[in-house]
Amino acid sequence: MSLLKRRGMIFPAFSIHGGVAGLFDYGPVGGRLLRKVQQEWREHWLSKGNIVEIDSPTITPDSVLAASGHISAFNDHASECNACNAIFRSDHLVEEFHQNPDSLSGPDLDAILTTNNVACPSCKESDWLASRPMNLMFGTRIGATRGGRQAYMRPETAQGMFLTYPMIQRHFRNRLPFGAIQVGKGYRNEISPRQGMIRQREFNMAELEYFIDPETDASHDFTKWDGIEFNLIPDPAGGQQNETKMGISAALNENIIRHPTVAFFMAETFDFLINIGANPEKIRFRQHESDEMAHYATDCWDLEMLGSYGWIECVGIAHRGCYDLGAHEEATNSKELRAWREFAEPIEIDKEVAAAVGAVIGPAFRQQAGLVTQALSELNDLPSAFPFDLNLSDGTTVSIEENMVEIKRVQETIRGEWFLPHVVEPAFGLDRIIWHILDHGYEMTEKEGEEYLILHLTESVAPYEVVVLPLFEKDGMDEVANQIQRDLLKLNGIGVYYDGSKSIGRRYARADEIGVPWAITVDHTTIEDGTVTIRRRDDQLQIRISQDDLAQHLQNGTLGSLY
Ligand code: ATP
Ligand code: GLY
Repeated sequence: MSLLKRRGMIFPAFSIHGGVAGLFDYGPVGGRLLRKVQQEWREHWLSKGNIVEIDSPTITPDSVLAASGHISAFNDHASECNACNAIFRSDHLVEEFHQNPDSLSGPDLDAILTTNNVACPSCKESDWLASRPMNLMFGTRIGATRGGRQAYMRPETAQGMFLTYPMIQRHFRNRLPFGAIQVGKGYRNEISPRQGMIRQREFNMAELEYFIDPETDASHDFTKWDGIEFNLIPDPAGGQQNETKMGISAALNENIIRHPTVAFFMAETFDFLINIGANPEKIRFRQHESDEMAHYATDCWDLEMLGSYGWIECVGIAHRGCYDLGAHEEATNSKELRAWREFAEPIEIDKEVAAAVGAVIGPAFRQQAGLVTQALSELNDLPSAFPFDLNLSDGTTVSIEENMVEIKRVQETIRGEWFLPHVVEPAFGLDRIIWHILDHGYEMTEKEGEEYLILHLTESVAPYEVVVLPLFEKDGMDEVANQIQRDLLKLNGIGVYYDGSKSIGRRYARADEIGVPWAITVDHTTIEDGTVTIRRRDDQLQIRISQDDLAQHLQNGTLGSLY
């Protein structure tokens, strides 16, 4: 954390006003890192071809979050110390005494706190008030009329994809499977955000909702991952207890991973993390036990990364079934959240219907007659008695007498059906991922008897690809270096900065600390023959090349091949 602050990466926000726990700024270097991770993430999914990006509001009216279950179920339990009034998440206090504390009720959490005399992490007393559930959403109000409408800052970006489902479906011409991603802020009023960047109150989410037909969810090619062993910790209810190493296809065949699409996204998520520099040995997948799963999930795997806080969940990969689309359909009566499934063979059925008798309906209902005829044709069951109440699409109800309908036998061909697609969701917390790639790339070595830090970030996410350094800011070296910086900045997507402050050794060290892969030094020889030195961060080896070749090598990513 001190490195991050010192080098303009990430620091506690509003610090001159005393700061607010759980809120962070990304600075000039960190902002670039965040942007690059977001961009890599986008490209990883958009390159699949059947995934699009959307962007929806972060302010969300309460009806959406009532339907999604967040108002009633998005709670953590809070325990307050009676001695010093510090507040903690109850499940975090009892982690030592229960394998799966996330699943416990308030009274169960209280009982564990008392029986085990759990000490308050702040004052070490053991005197707890009864825990209380706390909803994690930040409330707000929309508009000014009589106090406005109740709303919340979104706790996840996922609802945006569910509510734009009709648009996404039209975009893909109703052909499942397809997905939509969204990158943006999520807000959670965490009870005790004490783990730095791991637990924030406003954080960077990146979520993918992949819509599938549950009847045909199978077509994934896993050969790309042949030979890769994944670290898995399956749900003990399935008979497996411990961490095991397994190929993704084997885990699927043995029904440890329960759905092919979940397996596919686990493997793709692993690839993404490796591509941005995570250490594969420090990645594992842990399956949720059934009572640990979020209110919407039917199978869920946490991708955990190992770093200075131990194993931390960084991605949740959940099979949400049709929970969300079904919940919004029920809350709104919308007919737009369903997909069409064509039957292999049309089905012919013979049925009795109650057909409208026009000569009676017309005079009886006048301008509503059309709506009555329509509503009768949509009845699923024949009326069991007369008169009966019929609901019309304009919201009114009419009474239907026996002489208004005629029972007829008809033949109908049914070609398909409307159904609620199922959803598989990988939900990424980008700040936690950034923390872990910084952690995995962090190497403390020694140089001339002093600690020397190198941040080994891959080029794809390194905040800057290049630093340009004049050996001294004199004899024209600074002008040439400035010119090189200006030229390189014209290259697409290459981040370049100029550093002329203090000794060349200090400048190399600062660049190594923020993970710059290449340092270009302009010295006296540059002025004579137009060559520059290229220094590679990871082994600090230097070569000389012509200034003219620089741009091309950088653009093509071929500097390394010159060594
Ligand atoms: P935890 O159990 O640690 O509170 P969660 O199970 O509530 O996390 P999810 O609801 O699955 O987390 O959220 C999806 C992802 O968002 C997580 O995998 C994590 O990377 C990230 N995330 C969740 N809460 C936070 C937070 N407070 N700060 C930073 N990232 C978070
Ligand atoms: N969208 C998944 C989550 O917030 O947990």
